[in-house]
Amino acid sequence: MFAVHLMAFYFTKLKEDQIKKVDRFLYHMRLSDETLLDIMARFQAEMQKGLGKDTSPTASVKMLPTFVRAIPDGSENGEFLSLDLGGSKFRVLKVQVSEEGKRNVQMESQFYPTPNEIIRGNGLELFEYVADCLADFMNTKGLKHKKLPLGLTFSFPCRQTKLEEGVLLSWTKKFKARGVQDTDVVSCLTKAIKKHKDIDVDILALVNDTVGTMMTCAYDDPYCEVGVIIGTGTNACYMEDMSNIDLVEGDEGRMCINTEWGAFGDDGALEDIRTEFDRELDLGSLNPGKQLFEKMISGLYLGELVRLILLKMAKSGLLFGGEKSSALHTKGKIETRHVAAMEKYKEGLANTREILMDLGLEPSEADCIAVQHVCTIVSFRSANLCAAALAAILTRLRENKKLVRLRTTVGMDGTLYKIHPQYPKRLHKVVRKLVPNCDVRFLLSESGSTKGAAMVTAVASRVQAQRKLIDMVLALFRLTQEQLVGVQDKMRAELEYGLKRDTHPLATVKMLPTYVCGMPDGTEKGKFLALDLGGTNFRVLLVKIRSGRRSVRMYNKIFAIPLEIMQGTGEELFDHIVQCIADFLDYMGLKGAQLPLGFTFSFPCRQASIDKGTLIGWTKGFKATDCEGEDVVDMLREAIKRRNEFDLDIVAVVNDTVGTMMTCGYEDPNCEIGLIAGTGSNLCYMEEMRNIEQVEGDEGKMCINTEWGGFGDNGCIDDIRTQYDKEVDEGSLNPGKQRYEKMTSGMYLGEIVRQILIDLTKQGLLFRGQISERLRTRGIFETKFLSQIESDRLALLQVRRILQQLGLDSTCEDSIVVKEVCGAVSRRAAQLCGAGLAAIVEKRREDQGLEHMRITVGVDGTLYKLHPHFSRLLQETVKELAPRCDVTFMLSEDGSGKGAALITAVAKRLQQAGKN
Ligand code: BG6
Ligand code: BG6
Ligand code: GLC
Ligand code: GLC
Repeated sequence: MFAVHLMAFYFTKLKEDQIKKVDRFLYHMRLSDETLLDIMARFQAEMQKGLGKDTSPTASVKMLPTFVRAIPDGSENGEFLSLDLGGSKFRVLKVQVSEEGKRNVQMESQFYPTPNEIIRGNGLELFEYVADCLADFMNTKGLKHKKLPLGLTFSFPCRQTKLEEGVLLSWTKKFKARGVQDTDVVSCLTKAIKKHKDIDVDILALVNDTVGTMMTCAYDDPYCEVGVIIGTGTNACYMEDMSNIDLVEGDEGRMCINTEWGAFGDDGALEDIRTEFDRELDLGSLNPGKQLFEKMISGLYLGELVRLILLKMAKSGLLFGGEKSSALHTKGKIETRHVAAMEKYKEGLANTREILMDLGLEPSEADCIAVQHVCTIVSFRSANLCAAALAAILTRLRENKKLVRLRTTVGMDGTLYKIHPQYPKRLHKVVRKLVPNCDVRFLLSESGSTKGAAMVTAVASRVQAQRKLIDMVLALFRLTQEQLVGVQDKMRAELEYGLKRDTHPLATVKMLPTYVCGMPDGTEKGKFLALDLGGTNFRVLLVKIRSGRRSVRMYNKIFAIPLEIMQGTGEELFDHIVQCIADFLDYMGLKGAQLPLGFTFSFPCRQASIDKGTLIGWTKGFKATDCEGEDVVDMLREAIKRRNEFDLDIVAVVNDTVGTMMTCGYEDPNCEIGLIAGTGSNLCYMEEMRNIEQVEGDEGKMCINTEWGGFGDNGCIDDIRTQYDKEVDEGSLNPGKQRYEKMTSGMYLGEIVRQILIDLTKQGLLFRGQISERLRTRGIFETKFLSQIESDRLALLQVRRILQQLGLDSTCEDSIVVKEVCGAVSRRAAQLCGAGLAAIVEKRREDQGLEHMRITVGVDGTLYKLHPHFSRLLQETVKELAPRCDVTFMLSEDGSGKGAALITAVAKRLQQAGKN
């Protein structure tokens, strides 16, 4: 009995002595709580540095955006291939994810070796080898005939700009294949796979193993927002707020960041805690100076650290009686699995003896105790360091969420964590001590990182499928050159029908004579009133023209026309107009003045003279009763009479296109075309009298208001009209009418966009499939919003803000799609308008028998003026379709009121001359 006690006492004493000895020797490796808190703070600073725009280029902790934006939500499904390259084992897998209400994942996998000559040889060969293994797998699993999406788990630092791309920043751990650094590994692998003619895969996602681990665990626990690997290497990822990620556009939601914490300290930040053994190990590694944090922690290095320590202790006579074996001198002879075995709870000491003997040593009892303690110190330090960095991440998460207490889950993987008997316990304990205000659950990823990679791939594959559907819709708006030429030809034919006496009554492009026969010649003068009705704004103007100097002074006031007046009775409308004139005269101090008036009336009117105009039919947003078929000049006169306050001499009624042509013609006599691309769309031009069969006389020219908005009303362009155009038409005030206008002008483009968005939402491709009340509201997309959304200077976030202003709650992805839709619709509008204009200029050129023709087009309208691309696309189309015409576009700065006044001046002069 006494002997047993004595033995126990002796052993305890021996153990104490050995432990003290080792503790003294490895004093520097034992990190106090303060030191850990300090390291945690340093890592917090490093993360911030890695995320900042200006600081990231020089940051050693890279904080790489992964383009993984959400954890799995259970809706993922499909069949995927997966590769898992970079950990201790290389695997190829098939993953089947099924939805059906219950989360169900089935995997089949095959391990393949990764010989050193492959992973440290030529990069091309490495990827060819990987592709060969993939082909072999597909062959044995009978998958060759299938086209499958593939997710690549690639456990090295990669810079990503999208999910399916990753530029290798540097090899780490055991890999060092030549010619891969700084290249996109996805395209390297794609190229290698292409060589196998019999397999067809589409690499949709590249993920780091930490990301795969996080996603694997998040599939089972939605609280999981961190992934940690403590295996061959070590690293962590977590979900960061987009607003903190400077390198990726957008502020909404979160994105997973691959910290690459293994490189912590590469800038010297950890020099104070590195020991001589760390430095020696680093010098002998494949990547000296790099991954210094990883080299203090991970499985690839832990055994080697122990070996270097034992060797030094033996050399100093502290172990093995000063004896060393050649194995102890050999790099890599002690591995992590040995360290784990030596630290086993019960068999640990026996294992230690066995391992040391295998190394050719003859350890005493004391040696075994000491060596075991060395292992403990080294692995404890590893767990401590990991805990400090992880605590920093958890704190960051808690602060991002502005929580007092954070409840979260960390997904874990890696052989060191999995096989070391004490490691997880120690790590968990230290983390909880460092961040007492976080309730952390550690969840081991049983199935590796591929399940998570498959989730990411599933999402990517869904996005790809959705993209295809969106592209199909957008393609409807892409017109080929051939189609545009077709439109040009048909427009040309319709112009001729409208001009000819026989065909005119049935023509859809009405070709209305305006009785404007010449350009202003500079002799016009006087004071005129002008009205400008039918565009975005209703204006009353006073125009003073001075002769000789071609100078005009204008005063104007904008008045609103309420919807109920636009669509009320004719009398109400004209009374309202007269009320506005009265207000204006009052405002200008001209009460009672008797001035000649030019009336810009932007609707189709049949004219028998310059001062008579019978409204053929309302267009755009007007629908006042009892006006169609009436002379609008008479209606205005009567309204003035009804008011009985002032008298005005209404000399001319002109279409806005004509007013615009005149405004521009005053400066450039070559301006013989007026174009409006605004609320509505229309064009006028100077035609030879001999071609205008409806008007007597063959001499000279007359301006024709084409009213081309009605082009297509006979169905001649139905081949390019989409279901969306038809829906817009059906919901308009004038169904079946103005079909060309409805594809080309501001009042309708927004409506087309809205119809497309409704359809895409119905298909679940936008706004989370929810059609809001707002989206159902007619007219929300005014031209100015389209123009803003399409501006190139606008960041995505601003697009989102505009949509939000419109009451559309959109994500960043939604905003991208909306912008594309707007782009497709406005591009088609500009091209169609260009095709129409090309038809006119070509006709003019041929009529004059010219090889080449130079002509100026006066243009007005909010679409043309505000939209960032419309004018350019229009001009490009004209150039392409009418290459022999040199067309100058002249923007009408002063609106059509000025032109109307000029026409009035000329008419007044002729009136006077007639009287005399
Ligand atoms: C595996 C994952 O379980 O763990 C890999 O599937 C990962 O993606 C690996 O790289 C990390 O551990 P180790 O110890 O194999 O490097
Ligand atoms: C204005 C003209 O500048 O443009 C109006 O003065 C014309 O006569 C208008 O109708 C057309 O553009 P919008 O976009 O206002 O319809
Ligand atoms: C290395 C790699 C990193 C990986 C980690 C764990 O640190 O650089 O990308 O996540 O090992 O495998
Ligand atoms: C509509 C009108 C037309 C006008 C055009 C531009 O198409 O019918 O007269 O010129 O809009 O405002």
